[in-house]
Amino acid sequence: MAVNRQILLAARPEGLPKESDFRLVAGEVPSPVEGQFLVKINYLSVDPYMRGRIREGKSYAEPVEVGDVMVGGTVGTVVQSRHPHYQPGDVVVGYWGWQEYALSDGKDVHRFDTSLAPMSTALGVLGMPGMTAYFGLLEIGQPKSGQTVFVSAAAGAVGSVVGQIAKLKGCRVVGSAGSQQKVDYLTGELGFDAAFNYKEASDYVAKLQEVCPDGIDVYYDNVGGALTDAVFQHINVGARIVVCGQIDQYNATEPPQGPRLLWHLIVKRARAEGFLVFDFAQRFGEAQGQLAAWLREGKIKYRETVVDGLENAPRAFIGLFGGENLGKQLVRVAEQGSKGTA
Ligand SMILES: NC(=O)c1ccc[n+]([C@@H]2O[C@H](COP(=O)([O-])OP(=O)(O)OC[C@H]3O[C@@H](n4cnc5c(N)ncnc54)[C@H](OP(=O)(O)O)[C@@H]3O)[C@@H](O)[C@H]2O)c1
Repeated sequence: MAVNRQILLAARPEGLPKESDFRLVAGEVPSPVEGQFLVKINYLSVDPYMRGRIREGKSYAEPVEVGDVMVGGTVGTVVQSRHPHYQPGDVVVGYWGWQEYALSDGKDVHRFDTSLAPMSTALGVLGMPGMTAYFGLLEIGQPKSGQTVFVSAAAGAVGSVVGQIAKLKGCRVVGSAGSQQKVDYLTGELGFDAAFNYKEASDYVAKLQEVCPDGIDVYYDNVGGALTDAVFQHINVGARIVVCGQIDQYNATEPPQGPRLLWHLIVKRARAEGFLVFDFAQRFGEAQGQLAAWLREGKIKYRETVVDGLENAPRAFIGLFGGENLGKQLVRVAEQGSKGTA
């Protein structure tokens, strides 16, 4: 009997999630009925937003219940089909969560063209994080040539794409990240104009003055917290703050009490705006086409940190909060073309 291993939410985490908040189970691989196909998952994505999904109460989506399969984006290969539009061998992207096999009726699924790039990029630079970077920066941030763009968590999946697009738009680009290796990657491989290790900077305001001497026109905020408080004090007139993520606060057990700095938005006639990538779902094709073209032309680079084995998904997820990933964090569930239920 072919086995489908799954990872369930075992308990709602308090603070930083632990591996024991998740549980591995094994069951039978399901068989497609008429109108369905069976997907063997090759890669699954672990993402910071999942911390919100395993919290009690609805945010912008229903929470995962204890005992449910963990949610998440996946890319895989059709291995059996009784669906008229999908054939074995098709590479498909869907929201099938932390498991090895899934059934689909084709709803909310799209094919991934592996002539563009390896299938793993469907979850990274050519997937949700790439879309987030593209629309967050260009639509909310509206960078202009010659302006200064500062991006936090700059060596991650979203941040690394934001910085490179901002460079392509003629901006001066500065990033923060949590290690010297990441800082070197930003200024070396990705062409950032400056970067710093926020874990070693004691005075963020002074640091920002040093690395952004002309002030900040666009802040692409992936982290929130004290770093964002410092940015508010260093924005230019007409600045745009793109509120993309607040990872610094995702494990907080009490509402954080920060400085209240909104008056800087008044003084600087600036705008801070949150968004969800899915607000731009109708335009994902446009963004994917542009990002794929930039990849092909060598104008954008990407990195992936890949952990092998479904059983290691919780560890990979928890690692996001310690900055263990460079670029997109993925879990390889099965090699492409590996043997399995067919
Ligand atoms: N609005 C949307 O629709 C949307 C969509 C996707 C993602 N997001 C948000 O965008 C942000 C980046 O997501 P991603 O998928 O690209 O993740 P990522 O940047 O690839 O991974 C998370 C990174 O955050 C950094 N980090 C963790 N804890 C931190 C802290 N307390 N302070 C500062 N940095 C911290 C770590 O890097 P360091 O080594 O640098 O600490 C880690 O590598 C997240 O906040 C996420 O929730 C929003």
